Order: sequence, then C-alpha cells, then structure tokens
Amino acid sequence: MKESGPLNGAIQISGAKNTCLKLMGAALLTDEPLTLTNVPRLSDIRTLSVLLESLGVEVARLQEGRVMVLSGRHITSRRAEYEIVRKLRASFNVLGPLLAREGEAIVSLPGGCAIGARKVDLHLMALEKLGATITLEEGYVHASAPGGLRGAVIEFPFVSVGATENALTAATLAKGTTVIKNAAQEPDTVDLALCLTQMGARISGAGTSEITVEGVDRLHGATHEVIPDRIELGTFMIAPAICGGDVELIGGRRDLLQAFCEKLEATGIEITETPSSLKVRRPNGRVKAVDVTTAPFPGFPTDLQAQFMALMCTAEGTSVLEETIFENRFMHAPELIRMGADIDVHGGTAKVTGTKQLAGAQVMATDLRASVSLILAGLAAKGDTVVNRVYHLDRGYERIEEKLSAVGANIQRVSGHE
Ligand code: EPZ
Repeated sequence: MKESGPLNGAIQISGAKNTCLKLMGAALLTDEPLTLTNVPRLSDIRTLSVLLESLGVEVARLQEGRVMVLSGRHITSRRAEYEIVRKLRASFNVLGPLLAREGEAIVSLPGGCAIGARKVDLHLMALEKLGATITLEEGYVHASAPGGLRGAVIEFPFVSVGATENALTAATLAKGTTVIKNAAQEPDTVDLALCLTQMGARISGAGTSEITVEGVDRLHGATHEVIPDRIELGTFMIAPAICGGDVELIGGRRDLLQAFCEKLEATGIEITETPSSLKVRRPNGRVKAVDVTTAPFPGFPTDLQAQFMALMCTAEGTSVLEETIFENRFMHAPELIRMGADIDVHGGTAKVTGTKQLAGAQVMATDLRASVSLILAGLAAKGDTVVNRVYHLDRGYERIEEKLSAVGANIQRVSGHE
C-alpha cells in the first residue's frame, strides 16, 4: 500500500467475528436448527464450521455465506481434535455446550499464542463448579458429568470473556440456578445471552457483572442476527483519523465502543451517530496524542490497542499506551519502528512519540490486530509498505482491501488470497 490522501465514502461493517464464533457453538445445545444471519465471511468462521461438522453438526451457508443454518440433531463425536483447535482458540468454547448436551466432552487444549499464554484455568474452574469432573490427558481436557450439570455460584477472580461464555452456555442446561459473578460484560457475551434466550434459556443480568441462569431441560431452534463487529468498526474509524477525510461506517453504533469513541474524540476527531451509522471526520491536520489503558468492556478494548498505536505514531505529542489484558501484545511496535515510528516499550506500557511522516517498509504481520495496525500505518506512510503474512488479516477482516480502497485508500493484495 501507499500513502493515501483523505478517505471519503462509506464502509459497511460486517457481523462480529468473536460473537458469531460463540453463537455457532450454541448450536450444540439443541437438536433443532439454529439460523444465524449477518454472518461474516472469514477464515475463522470456516475453521469453526469444520470443527462443528466433525462433531456431527450440519452446517449450511446460504445467501453467499451471510446466513448460516447449523443443525445439531445428531452429535456424532464428543471430541474436538487438536488439529483444528490449535488453529482457533475460540474452538475451546465448544467445551461448555458439548458437555451440557452430551454429559461428556473431550477438547484439545489450545496451546499458547502470540499475544500471551492464554490459559484456560477459569473455563475449567467454572465447569467444575457446575459439577463436571475434569482430567487432562495427553493434551486434551476430558470433562464429564454423566448425571448432568448442576447450577452453582461461579465467581471469577478477573474478567474472562471466553470463560464467562463457556460457563453461560453450559449453565443453560444445568439443573437449578447458576450465578456468574465478575462476568464479562462485552457486547459479544450479551448477544450470546440474547440468542440463548431466543432458544429458550432463562438468563438475566447479561451486560452486568452478575449473570443469573435458571437451567431448563431443553433448548430449541432460533433465528438470530449477529451484531456488527465493533473491532472492525473501530479499525475503520481510525482510517480517516490517520489519513484525513470523512467516512461513514454503516451499521456502526456508539454504544458498542463508547470508551474508544471518547478517546478518538480527545485526539480531535469528530464522530456523529446517525440511526444507522457512525460518521467519522478529521477536521484539521494531525491528531493530538492521547493516553490509553486497555480494560474489559466497557473499557478501551485490547483488540483496538494496536490500531490506536498506529494512529498515535502520527499524532502531535507523546502518548502512553498501557496493555492490561494480554502480556505480549506489543508485537506491532518493532514493525512500526521499522516504518520510522518512535516507540519505547517497557513491560505492558508503550510510550509513543508521534512523527510527522512515517516511511513505507516491508513489515511482518504477527497476529490479527497487529497486522491491521500495519495496514493503517502504511496508509499514512510515504512510499510503499508491504505487509507479509496477510493470512492473519483474513481471519478477522472481510475483504479489507476492497473496503478500504472503496473509500480511496491506496491498497492492493499482491498475493496470499485465502
Ligand atoms: C476474547 O478472547 C476475544 N476472542 C479476544 O479477541 C479478545 O482480545 C479478548 O476476549 C479480550 O477482550 C474471542 O472472543 C474469540 P479472555 P478470550 O478470556 O476469551 C486470561 C481478537 O483479536 N485468562 O477475556 O480468550 C487470558 O490469558 C481476539 O479478535 C486466564 O488467565 O480472552 C487473558 O490475559 C484476540 N485464564 C485474560 O485472561 C483463563 O482461563 C483475558 O482473556 C482465561 C483467560
């Protein structure tokens, strides 16, 4: 990609990857079909489809992949293999629903990943509280509850999105009442609770730190629309902030990203909400430096820290970015430095001093959000920027080069089509 002038036009925001992955897992809870609409077309979604199919779920994609019908009438396997789980950590979230429906689940441990150790101890603690017996055998978690799960009080020591969602799905079919304390409040978790409720689950408190679930005997099918992807939204909000211009994000909602919007506004960006979109405009020249600390929802999302850092590399002044969720989530910093950025990383803190002009370079994508931060920086950099390993991008951004070039960005895919 090359330096791009002001961006103008509209971008359609796709359905949320991280929400959709958890909704798909919910299909394991019922023998009736679950229909999801506004499904994003991403490689992570395809990977989870393959896993669900290996468990016996029939997956049909309609309307060019936008609609997915998942039918878990016959579960044919209770074992999620390492070969698939290692590719996608969210696969671990089949554990709760599979165990709740079948009384047994054997799921590979996902292993480490670039952004941190990403343990699963909280997932296992929650399922044990619900009465499961858990053993670890040859890299697999073996969970069993032959007599069914029992409602319990689960108190997490800190917020985990995945563990909250595993506990929530499992508790829907447990006998009695489950109370999840210090629960994740992410929009993804709220949307999952909404879908489960449409399937007949009895859930209250989703979106607060305490979720209560009254177990039911069985769930039924439902049709549910996936919420817009707030991380894709935030990423594309930074594009006009970094290049200048005026871009409308169709499907964008401020309530999905309140803390992020406030920080972006503090840099000097104007954000206007319409009934169906968010409009983002950079009124003047460079943005101002603003400090950010990542936190669970409703705080500033860790999944937008790398993109915000790219913006801060071009800001006037020095900002301090603190990452509190993952221990190793600054891998984009050395790549941004190769593009002329001034960044000093100490542990979980990065000091970023803005420069007037970044310079294009060959850079390496290390994970999904790191790769997109390099794209954003490349749009602001003089000369050519070549991002290698773009398969990371295809995990979570649908047709990113088409969406960005439609608003005037100078970007093209050279190779690495999915
Ligand atoms: C979800 O991951 C998202 N993934 C991540 O998005 C996101 O960064 C993260 O939540 C935080 O918002 C999906 O939803 C598929 P956590 P998750 O459990 O659920 C530690 C992206 O780029 N922890 O909330 O795995 C963990 O190591 C991805 O789209 C334990 O110690 O995140 C981390 O430090 C990346 N033990 C912290 O908690 C556990 O049992 C929060 O992780 C579980 C988590």
